[in-house]
Amino acid sequence: MIIENHKDLREHNSFGVSAKCSTFVTLESEEDIEVYLHSPSEHFVLGGGSNVLFTQDVQGTIVNVALDHIEEVKRTEDHVWLTVGAGMNWHNFVMHCIAQGYGGLENLSLIPGTVGASPIQNIGAYGVEIMDLISEVVAYRVSDAKPQTFSNGACEFSYRDSIFKNRLKGQYLISHVTFKLTTNHHQINTSYEPLAKAIAEQNVANPSIKQISDAVIQIRQSKLPDPAVLGNAGSFFKNPIISTEQASLIKSEYPALKSYPVDDDYVKLPAAWLIDQCGWKGTRRGDAGVHEKHALVLVNYGRATGLEIYELSEEILQSVVSKFGIRLEREVNVI
Ligand code: EPU
Repeated sequence: MIIENHKDLREHNSFGVSAKCSTFVTLESEEDIEVYLHSPSEHFVLGGGSNVLFTQDVQGTIVNVALDHIEEVKRTEDHVWLTVGAGMNWHNFVMHCIAQGYGGLENLSLIPGTVGASPIQNIGAYGVEIMDLISEVVAYRVSDAKPQTFSNGACEFSYRDSIFKNRLKGQYLISHVTFKLTTNHHQINTSYEPLAKAIAEQNVANPSIKQISDAVIQIRQSKLPDPAVLGNAGSFFKNPIISTEQASLIKSEYPALKSYPVDDDYVKLPAAWLIDQCGWKGTRRGDAGVHEKHALVLVNYGRATGLEIYELSEEILQSVVSKFGIRLEREVNVI
């Protein structure tokens, strides 16, 4: 266990905003987790810091789970089960799987963050959500330091949501995630149109998981800023889910609006389009801004504070409410 006092969190959040915490605790083993949880402080768990906005200093403790091993726990003819430490870098894990010929995660290439954060907000991109591949999650209960195994169903996954972000928020510390991946007969998913187009342009009839991963990386790099170069946390808001009725009303005024069916009664709308229509793309307020290539991504041009980025997000929220009557929800965790 490593304990650091009065640490600046700038290097620990992909927005690159400055905020101090009283204590920063790094847990490097299961034993560390148990020892820490026997007398826990008021804390906030931080993974890769790629989905968080610090708007002020943190008075309590920041806990970082740094377990990062990969263990094969089961294998059948067509599948392999891997249990992975929560602190493992997400993209490195995806690259490891592709190098081993394990399929399932290729559409989720280049997502910033850690393995342990992936179930919390059910990360998703290009037609795949991590709930499709998680077999179980091991998490320690903060109140008694006991590890508990959550089956996929027990995680209560839905769009960018899970029991860990919702009902049990703050009550568990995730230590491991087990993924069920294919070793043969990979289920290639090109349901996201721009991905299908990119693959078609390469004239490949049966793309490999590596080719899918490469195409995804190319798409992401073409429209999403690299946090190492320009501070950001990916999509700042969730895509809103509204009733089919409300969507038809909006569509009668804005025929160009696309919508994606969720079920018979609800559709998902592209938040990026709504924000774009309000004229926000490329806007800058000091060092806080809306990315010039993607209206859903707020960026830090250098010295923006978390509060400035938050205030910009508040203005965006208000303008979307005024124009479309829709209240967007933040995807990013605001501290
Ligand atoms: N669009 C605009 N203006 C823009 C950008 C996009 O009008 O500035 C329109 C596009 O034309 C498109 C629609 O908005 O029709 C959707 O855009 P995009 O395909 O880029 O996807 P998204 O809905 O903005 C979601 C995820 C991303 C994920 C992509 C690809 C959420 C909140 N975001 O973005 O996830 O990479 O789909 O699957 O669901 C993240 O969560 O941080 C993230 C980046």
